[in-house]
Amino acid sequence: MPDFKILLNYEKNGKSHTLDSYLKRGGYQTITKKLGKFKPEEVIDEVKKSGIRGRGGAGFPAGIKWSFLPKGTDKPIYLICNGDEGEPGTFKDRVILEENPHMLIEGMILSSYAIQAKHAYIYIRGEYGFALRRTQEAIKEAYDAGYLGKKIKGTDYVCDITVHQGAGAYVVGDETGLMNSIEGKKGQTRNKPPFPAIEGLYGCPTIINNVETLASVPYIIEHGGDKYKSIGTDKSSGTKLLSVSGHVRKPGVYEVVMGYPFMDFLNKECGGMLGGKKLKAVIPGGS
Ligand SMILES: Cc1cc2nc3c(=O)[nH]c(=O)nc-3n(C[C@H](O)[C@H](O)[C@H](O)COP(=O)(O)O)c2cc1C
Repeated sequence: MPDFKILLNYEKNGKSHTLDSYLKRGGYQTITKKLGKFKPEEVIDEVKKSGIRGRGGAGFPAGIKWSFLPKGTDKPIYLICNGDEGEPGTFKDRVILEENPHMLIEGMILSSYAIQAKHAYIYIRGEYGFALRRTQEAIKEAYDAGYLGKKIKGTDYVCDITVHQGAGAYVVGDETGLMNSIEGKKGQTRNKPPFPAIEGLYGCPTIINNVETLASVPYIIEHGGDKYKSIGTDKSSGTKLLSVSGHVRKPGVYEVVMGYPFMDFLNKECGGMLGGKKLKAVIPGGS
C-alpha cells in the first residue's frame, strides 16, 4: 500500500488532539488562507469535484447532497456531524474524535461556510466519554484561538459548534432519529420525505454528514477536488478508515487508499490471521 494518509497523518505521541499539534501539521491554514477568498459555491464545487462519498454507510456523494439545500431560504441552515457510531465492530470515527478533533472542526467550519450554516452540531454517542471530552477541549481551544465564533479569522463569517452527547441508542445513528434526539424528543426515526436538506433540525434545512466525511474536507479544499478525485478508484475516491477486529494479529483502525486489495490489507497491514489460522469469513460492514 502506498504510505498515504490524510486523516491519520499525525505522530502518535499522545498530543495529536491538541491545537498546538494540529497547527504544527499545517492545520487551520485552509481556513486562514481560503475562507475569505472562496465563495460558498466554490467550496461546494470542490467537494463535488472530489467525488467524496459519505462515510456513514450509504455512500451518497457529499457535494451533491449539499446542493439539495433550498436556495435563498430565510430559515437558518444547520450542519450536523454524525458521531453516533453505533454499528457493532465500528470504531473509526472515535479515533478522529479522540486523536484528530481539530481536523474535524476545520472540516466542519469549511462545510458550514459552504452551506452557509452558522450553527453546527457534533452528535457523539453516549458511550464515547473520552472522545466527547477531547472534542469539547478542542472546540474550546478553537474558540479561544478565533477559529470559531464571530468574525472567523478576519472574515464576517460566524460559526458556532455545539456538542451533543447521545444517551446510547443504536437507532439515533439514523439521521432523522438523531435530529429528534438533539431536539429533546424520543430518539425515533422520522418518515422521509421531507428530507433533512429541506426540513431537518427544528424544521429547518439541515445537512448531516459522518465524522470521517467532514474531517476529509480540509484536505479537499487545500489540495483541490481534482487531487482528491485522483486518489483511490473511479467510483470511490480518497482514503478510507477501516476498523479491524476479530482473529487478526494487529487489530485497530487503519487508513487505506480506496481500492486497496483486501488480502494485501489483511496480510501486510493487519499482520495476517491470528495463530496462522485460515481465513473463513469477513463481515465487511458492521455486524
Ligand atoms: C439504523 C441506522 C443507523 C445509522 N447509524 C449511523 C452512524 O452511527 N453514523 C453515521 O454516520 N451514519 C449512520 N447512519 C446513516 C445516517 O442516517 C446518514 O446517512 C449519515 O450520517 C450521512 O452521512 P454521510 O453522507 O457523510 O455518510 C445510520 C443509518 C441507519 C438507518
